[in-house]
Amino acid sequence: MSIISQDLKDKYHFNISEIRNLLQTIESQKLDFSTTELIKELKRKIEKIKSEFLSKKGIIPQLINELSNLSPDQKRELGKEINQFKNEIENDIKTINKQIEKIERKIKYQFDIDLSITYLPSQKGSFHIISIVQEELINVFSELGFFVMDGVEIEDEYHNFEALNIPQDHPARDMWDTFYFKDGILRTHTSNMQIRILEKYKPPIKVISIGKCYRRDNLDATHSFQFHQLEGFAIDEDINFLDLIRTLYRFVNKYFGPETKVNFIPSYFPFTEPSAEMSISCFYCQQNDENCSVCKGTGWIEILGCGMINPIVLKNLDIDPDKYSGFAFGLGIERIAMLKYKIPDIRMFFENYIEFNKLFSEIN
Ligand code: PHE
Repeated sequence: MSIISQDLKDKYHFNISEIRNLLQTIESQKLDFSTTELIKELKRKIEKIKSEFLSKKGIIPQLINELSNLSPDQKRELGKEINQFKNEIENDIKTINKQIEKIERKIKYQFDIDLSITYLPSQKGSFHIISIVQEELINVFSELGFFVMDGVEIEDEYHNFEALNIPQDHPARDMWDTFYFKDGILRTHTSNMQIRILEKYKPPIKVISIGKCYRRDNLDATHSFQFHQLEGFAIDEDINFLDLIRTLYRFVNKYFGPETKVNFIPSYFPFTEPSAEMSISCFYCQQNDENCSVCKGTGWIEILGCGMINPIVLKNLDIDPDKYSGFAFGLGIERIAMLKYKIPDIRMFFENYIEFNKLFSEIN
């Protein structure tokens, strides 16, 4: 004898397996905001089963009521059957609820964002003016046959000074004072790359290297503790001063315009011999304005230091100075950018004032 009809059991099993299927579907797909909708539906179905079977006026209490008119033996037997059915339902619901909790926790922790929120329209970025000028210079020097190589900013004294013929107590070190660590320095110029590159590659060679440099300079409109330089050098069997002039002249013509003139005056660098400073004719006033703010009325703008690589430097690198010779030059990227784009103060490059940065967004 049984108090629970097969129909009733079938109905329950049908409903619970529907819930289990839905749960499986949720678990097998990626969590997104449709998951929360499906979980809501799942919970509604569970509530429905609960109220249908377990609530005060539900099927289980009704069945227990029916027992009251029966004999004690029947009560015991059929009561057991009802209890078993009730336990089955309660356990099923408990297991399913645990699984739901697990999914909800996942949503909360891995995925705690409001997916219905509308996102902000994205703003278009642009390159910083220093990057733009670097790129322009790389293009010109690539056309002139130079390779581009990356460098290191954290250096040792040997590569920044000694190998470049600037011994420990040489007064020229004052020109390039820098920041010192326990076991290294911040490079003061990109000339360290002459050494680094030639330790790895042998001549013939024609390279430029661009990067940040550091000096113990007080900050003002034209000086900064950090700036960028471009170093260029070429070494081969028959390189002479005329090759240096010709190369720089072609660079200037390509970069500042075909009318631009160049002028060299003698200078001193320990790593070049002879050395020179190169000026260009003012591309702004064409040497026609006594009050020009770019050339200060002189008609000339000094833009770089250069020279023939000192044979001592070549010897330091095991390159035979009787067979090989080379030229080198170094220029400040900020200075070029300030001249070309009429930027009055070096501090503007890194103050990160967004309106300043936006001024150049049209160029790239
Ligand atoms: N390194 C020099 C400076 O920082 C520039 C330079 C480079 C001069 C190469 C000559 C040759 O002032």
